[in-house]
Amino acid sequence: MVWESGCVVVVMLTPLSENGVKQCHPYWPDEGSDVYHIYEVNLVSEHIWCEDFLVRSFYLKNLQTNETRTVTQFHFLSWMDRGIPNSARTLLDFRSDGAGRSGTYILIDMVLNKMAKGAKEIDIAATLEHLRDQRAGMVQTKNFKVHLGLDRDI
Ligand SMILES: *[C@@H]1O[C@H](CO)[C@@H](O)[C@H](O)[C@H]1NC(C)=O
Repeated sequence: MVWESGCVVVVMLTPLSENGVKQCHPYWPDEGSDVYHIYEVNLVSEHIWCEDFLVRSFYLKNLQTNETRTVTQFHFLSWMDRGIPNSARTLLDFRSDGAGRSGTYILIDMVLNKMAKGAKEIDIAATLEHLRDQRAGMVQTKNFKVHLGLDRDI
């Protein structure tokens, strides 16, 4: 489905399992590469942004055509099914300092909006700069790279 619809970003809102109940089949390898049907999935990088979510970068190869693509996955780990406390905390974070997770969420939201409007290439670093101009300390994170046409440190 990711291949067919030409997805470049996947936002995953559940952990793989919740309270011992499986929520989603892992469709990527823990490390290196795995083959799923006719697609080879390489895990290029995995960056933990905060305790609640991480960003993975995959390199996909269609083994029938040898065509390759890059996909970025934003994976929320603690957005539990009935996760009202976490949602509330996110809102409170946003209202209190506007940095950290909520800043990160705003960044993702802005990026997804640009994609929805058909942007072919998105400068995530510039988007983050724009956010930081408006609020110091927005998105406190280690350097990481997003493979989305650009390859820059944030
Ligand atoms: C894909 O690559 C393999 C290995 O390099 C090659 O043998 C094969 O012919 C290629 N297939 C296509 C459709 O180009």
